[in-house]
Amino acid sequence: MGKEKVGLVALVLIVSSWAVSSASSSPSFGGDLSRGKASLTFGSASSSLVLNRVGSSVVLPLDGNVYPTGSYNTTIHIGQPPKPYFLDPDTGSDLTWLQCDAPCVQCTRTPHPLYPPKGDLVNCNNPMCASLHSGDYKCDRLERCEYKVQYADGSSSRGVLVKDVVNFESYRGGFLRSHVTLGCGYDQPGPSNVDGVLGLGKGGSSIVSQLSSQGLVANVLGHCLSTRGGGFLFFGDDLYDFPRITWRPLSYKSKHYSLVGTAELLFAGKPTGQKDLFLLFDSGSTYTYFSSEAYEALSSRVKEELRRKDFTKAVDDDTLPLCWKGWKSFKDIREVTKYFKPFALSFNSGGRTKTQFEVPPESYLIISDKGNVCMGVLNGTEIYPNANVIGDISMQDKMVIYDNANHFLGWASEDCSQLPKSRAFAA
Ligand SMILES: *[C@@H]1O[C@H](CO)[C@@H](O)[C@H](O)[C@H]1NC(C)=O
Ligand SMILES: *[C@@H]1O[C@H](CO)[C@@H](O)[C@H](O)[C@H]1NC(C)=O
Repeated sequence: MGKEKVGLVALVLIVSSWAVSSASSSPSFGGDLSRGKASLTFGSASSSLVLNRVGSSVVLPLDGNVYPTGSYNTTIHIGQPPKPYFLDPDTGSDLTWLQCDAPCVQCTRTPHPLYPPKGDLVNCNNPMCASLHSGDYKCDRLERCEYKVQYADGSSSRGVLVKDVVNFESYRGGFLRSHVTLGCGYDQPGPSNVDGVLGLGKGGSSIVSQLSSQGLVANVLGHCLSTRGGGFLFFGDDLYDFPRITWRPLSYKSKHYSLVGTAELLFAGKPTGQKDLFLLFDSGSTYTYFSSEAYEALSSRVKEELRRKDFTKAVDDDTLPLCWKGWKSFKDIREVTKYFKPFALSFNSGGRTKTQFEVPPESYLIISDKGNVCMGVLNGTEIYPNANVIGDISMQDKMVIYDNANHFLGWASEDCSQLPKSRAFAA
């Protein structure tokens, strides 16, 4: 263990007693902030952009995998001139931040040079600042908007909000340029192998909410993670084939992508007795976390299935809590999927039709570096009491769409190893 990331924000608070001390961290006010409106530019846009109605949609290739890397990242270009940064896309949190030379109190080794905060500071009275802080908070003398985000895995970032230009390479060569608010993080204790986090939550500070409030894209995002590693992330609502998607309403009340209503856990199409599961979707979580009872129900079904097969518990493998040895050392999950059964989360849609989120073996198992099969659904009791968190592993080979404009979450099976083709633009 140790490589997995759990991504929900547990806490967002203001740290008002700390003063940024360096001259490099006092960029000028005014300028871009007062200029207001963002500009939308399609750079080297070819005519196919228009023909295919890609319009403002953005497609971002993803790198990484569930195992062994334990996270995904996408390259975002920030600043003027734009510089590349590897960011971890997290639908469990709102704020996008970069490890920042403010200077750093604590920063980890980053793939790129630390982000130099040349942009405008966000004033403490800015609504974006308020949207990050629930309840009362006091502006300090300098009226900067300070933030602290704490994630479920214990990692955190602390810094100040700045405004800067973000350049998204749009699908097929165009690009979309916008002034957005992001965090200049000068204090990140703990390990990290990226330059920062791309916040894709529901809140107003989320990058897609910001682009959407500037009229640049619809407030919709989605991802397609491949079981072969990589995949893509997208912003906007014209990249999927609407009728193919299974939709479930998203809770208005929750700050996270939680579904309205509960689901029943089925194993190999049969009920497990686990019925009232609250689900939330979090791309910042590598694995899937179930409540103790649901975890017990699932793992005991899997063990029962294996008892009749040539697998034994791999006690010497601590990659994940439950690993099994086969008759040989495996390299690819596809060598063993036929020995395992799928599970599903089934929703009662009112009428006779049942909606399901199906999870085939390759979306709940991994092959460890010791060649064993390990279960990627974990007991989440300690990290997420009362919630069942669908993490990256179980969202693989599916298009997962977070429609904030209409408050729905959707999914459909998909080969995520290729960027979307023009089929998505038919209709
Ligand atoms: C992030 O992506 C880059 C290239 O796209 C890749 O070289 C790097 O290994 C990735 N990092 C992680 C942690 O996945
Ligand atoms: C899940 O974790 C909790 C807290 O550590 C523990 O009490 C419980 O027994 C675990 N459940 C299972 C099925 O292992």
